[in-house]
Amino acid sequence: MKVTVFGIGYVGLVQAAVLAEVGHEVVCVDVDQNKVENLKQGIIPIYEPGLTPLVKENYESGRITFTTDAELGVKHGQMQFIAVGTPPDEDGSADLQYVLAVAGTIAKYMDDYKVIIDKSTVPVGTADKVQAHVATALAERGADIDFDVASNPEFLKEGAAVADCRKPDRIVIGTDSERVEKLMRELYAPFNRNHDKIIFMDVRSAELTKYAANCMLATKISFMNEMSNLAEKLGADIEQVRKGIGSDPRIGYHFIYPGCGYGGSCFPKDVQALVRTSQGIGYQSELLEAVERVNYRQKDKLMANLNHHFNSDLKDKTIAVWGLSFKPNTDDMREASSRVLMESLWQAGAKVQAFDPEAMEECQRIYGNRDDLLLMGTKEAALQGADALVICTEWTNFRAPDFDFIATTLKEKVIVDGRNLFEPVLMQERGFSYYAIGRGDSIRPVI
Ligand code: UDX
Repeated sequence: MKVTVFGIGYVGLVQAAVLAEVGHEVVCVDVDQNKVENLKQGIIPIYEPGLTPLVKENYESGRITFTTDAELGVKHGQMQFIAVGTPPDEDGSADLQYVLAVAGTIAKYMDDYKVIIDKSTVPVGTADKVQAHVATALAERGADIDFDVASNPEFLKEGAAVADCRKPDRIVIGTDSERVEKLMRELYAPFNRNHDKIIFMDVRSAELTKYAANCMLATKISFMNEMSNLAEKLGADIEQVRKGIGSDPRIGYHFIYPGCGYGGSCFPKDVQALVRTSQGIGYQSELLEAVERVNYRQKDKLMANLNHHFNSDLKDKTIAVWGLSFKPNTDDMREASSRVLMESLWQAGAKVQAFDPEAMEECQRIYGNRDDLLLMGTKEAALQGADALVICTEWTNFRAPDFDFIATTLKEKVIVDGRNLFEPVLMQERGFSYYAIGRGDSIRPVI
């Protein structure tokens, strides 16, 4: 099938590459000329395992092309995906200007039937807005052309995006049109073998499904973080509690890891957007507002532990930071806990020596050159001359470090661990002051 994808961001690029891989002819359109030129040369704007060879291979075989020519894109595909960004605007609502701009472009150039598919995470009611926008633009052109708008939210995880897209758990499609159902079945047939993963529903339910999924997962995390704070104050160990509750299949082991707060491009933005949507219709979501507040508080936890240890005197201290990305296997630092920590440290007059296996360039891009940020080439180098170590991201190669080296290199044997990588008892035996998350009375930091 002929497919066009508007927006070569995370979602658009991965979806496009995977659709091309199974044989569809995909044209990707983006307004960013630089990005398009880079992609043609096999330079991928994001770090995502498996994505570079996948894009290269499909580009070389001609199944995927990149262009800034929107007209060409509209003329190409019967299936027109909108996968542009929906950044939060000032009050946290999703900003739809890019989605509506693409809808307007499609209406401008289309000359036959199109299925316009919202792939971006968009507030409930957006498909109706796209429908109205396209209908108005077509009427202004005096064009009487049939089209449908469908919602097809994406559930991929960063760091596993290619695998998630190749083997989706479910394919949610919001539409009330039989014609769209048939076309979407054809489009996704290669991903829908073994058992039927396609779930058709009305458009608004599909739009809400995406928010509900992310908000449910964010709620699980905030709930566990809340429990971890209680565990600390009550002298219990959240890791034991986690195992105890996870063994109940109604709760399950997934997404109940306590930590230094959730980040990334989805959870913070989507929880906030649903809170705003609720407020906009006169409904106050007590639960989601609390999920957000707990997460804010949790991101301050690393700094609170450092303050506790150093009696709130961090001026001129040097803090080693391991892990900058919001989670492992990505270079993405959007809403990362490391940022909250580093910014608090700078405010307190401390210096940061940071290491991340992938996100160093991203960190440099965000913060530029500053005297109080040193990006170090290895995790060991980050420790040199530092007063304490903070772990923000659970990258695999942080899991079994040389503790003797850490002990002899740091000025003080202090580790603040935002991801519970080590056993508190063993750490105490090794002579460290070890501040984990919710791990009983081995150490009792006060948040
Ligand atoms: C998420 C959803 O998982 C995905 O389905 C959706 O399409 C986009 O948003 P992503 O943002 O890539 O994906 O990351 P995810 O692996 O879900 O982690 C999000 C954040 O939650 C990370 O900061 C992670 O460290 C944190 N997290 C996750 C926890 O703190 N505890 C957990 O138990 C799980």
